[in-house]
Amino acid sequence: MEIKGCLFDLDGVIVDTAKYHYIAWRQLAQKLGFDFTEKDNERLKGVSRMASLEILLEVGGIKGKSEEEKQAMAAEKNANYVDLISKMTPEEVLPGATDFLKELRKNGIKISLGSASKNAMTILTRLGLVELFDAIIDGTKVSKAKPDPEVFLKGAEALGLKPEECVVFEDAAAGLEAAINGGMRCVGIGSPDVLHRANMVVNGLHEMNVEKLNTIK
Ligand code: BG6
Ligand code: MG
Repeated sequence: MEIKGCLFDLDGVIVDTAKYHYIAWRQLAQKLGFDFTEKDNERLKGVSRMASLEILLEVGGIKGKSEEEKQAMAAEKNANYVDLISKMTPEEVLPGATDFLKELRKNGIKISLGSASKNAMTILTRLGLVELFDAIIDGTKVSKAKPDPEVFLKGAEALGLKPEECVVFEDAAAGLEAAINGGMRCVGIGSPDVLHRANMVVNGLHEMNVEKLNTIK
């Protein structure tokens, strides 16, 4: 079926924010008395803020925190993260992302964001990317985390398209599952080991163009 819309994850697809999430989670871990490695951080990709905190506490062997304490920890991590992303510059947009979004628009293909992040608008505004999207569905607009397809189904709906007319771009396994669960095709960004269920896997959006997109059946 003809591709009429593209739905983009944000972190790891359009911007390299994983390093900032990592720095902020690690600060919290160190405050709690343990170290949090980059390998541990892999488990947080595509995962919501509170679910990420649960993984972090599990890694540190920390049990018995109340809901209130958890909310306070997540808020502290987020404050550190927001501080880091407030210094981002347009040079931190991943290679090829802006060009590909512009090429899609030129070719009449609709574009939506489909991100779990509640900080998506801050990031897109800071990097001057808001205008390139026809719809923005982020963590403030969904209640179910990936691999639930809610974020992408809402994206397709906001573009006035059927799921099967859309292609999702995702770097995280949970996001790829969300696309599949929503009945959409998916381009994986990163390693084929993690993303082998995707219709196509590339290293980044610099390897994408409309001609290549249309080879996805
Ligand atoms: C996802 C990231 O895009 O957003 C996760 O991959 C992050 O690492 C999640 O936890 C939620 O982000 P935020 O900005 O709402 O804490
Ligand atoms: Mg991602």
